Amino acid sequence: EAIEKGGFEHFMLKEIYEQPKVIEDSFRGRMSATDGWIKLGGVSEFSTKIDKAERFIITACGTSYHSGLLAEYLIEELARVPVEVEYASEFRYRNPIINETDVVIAISQSGETADTLAAIEMAKERQALIYGICNVIGSSIARVSHAGSYTHAGPEIGVASTKAFSTQVSILTLLALQIAQSKGTISTSKLRQILYELEHIPEKIEETLQLDGQIRELAAIYKDATNFLYLGRGVNFPVALEGALKLKEISYIHAEGYPAAEMKHGPIALIDEEMPVVFLATNQSAYEKIVSNIQEVKARKGKIIAIVNKGDTQIRNLADHVIEVPETEEVLSPLVTVVPLQLLAYHIAILRGCNVDQPRNLAKSVTVE
Ligand code: G6P
Repeated sequence: EAIEKGGFEHFMLKEIYEQPKVIEDSFRGRMSATDGWIKLGGVSEFSTKIDKAERFIITACGTSYHSGLLAEYLIEELARVPVEVEYASEFRYRNPIINETDVVIAISQSGETADTLAAIEMAKERQALIYGICNVIGSSIARVSHAGSYTHAGPEIGVASTKAFSTQVSILTLLALQIAQSKGTISTSKLRQILYELEHIPEKIEETLQLDGQIRELAAIYKDATNFLYLGRGVNFPVALEGALKLKEISYIHAEGYPAAEMKHGPIALIDEEMPVVFLATNQSAYEKIVSNIQEVKARKGKIIAIVNKGDTQIRNLADHVIEVPETEEVLSPLVTVVPLQLLAYHIAILRGCNVDQPRNLAKSVTVE
């Protein structure tokens, strides 16, 4: 087992550190920034149907559901096609309207999640095309899907998903760009710019991983908190959900992710000097709005931990702690901003003496309802 952990103390940490490499693997042969092309092999046979889809319905559970939520932002923003995202457990039972012109995207690391599998079968009966995004080769979901792409993250052992999430996001980004390219909803220069940035994501994650020591110190300060709030806007809202889920899963601290602007409709009531609030504050487009959300928390004496772009000065003056990550295209920023949240959850859990690779009551693959 020590060998499998490759010198890391836990599988989860190893898998967090593998992200630059596996993201590169997920891109291999599927895109070139220099030549401006994207080609997801699993799409080609059905590319006409996918390009003509009138709607995408994304269904998944857990962390995979969060990458689905992110894909809603990516596909609508880049390819201008309506997207709905559903928990598989709800979708399968609520008699949804599914048309032949819909494409259902099922996302699953294990490819065995019972609810996701059942949701696919229901959608198949209703004549939708099923596009599966799985990590485990030959898994049930991969086999029942009409089309699909593997994430190529390699085996993920830690129950809390990390590298599977980031490779799902890579594939969904490529899918959004590929559809955008064939529909002509993106200019050639914008496409090249995003692809160029995408190619540089692995090294930006590498750079972010060097913040490990700083994040460990932060974890020591907040390890005894009883609640955590994670706030983000736009593409960083699903990242807030994912950051909160990671912390809950492995440290057993209650945590909630919220869209930053929704805070005033509830969570703001919880804020006092005991409440750490993690802000995802890298969005170029909503920067001032995030700053004012931070001010709202500060006015109530909440403890502010802000993930910001390198060189940010405005938020530094407001926050109790800043974690500076390398800047990238806004739509790609979740691939970078999720990393410090994974590390924060990991270190807090370790300091609390928790079993990070096998948290209580959770299973890696949920094959029952
Ligand atoms: C379990 C795992 C999670 C995972 C979820 C969905 O709850 O503990 O890490 O996100 O199932 O799994 P899937 O294999 O379908 O992505």
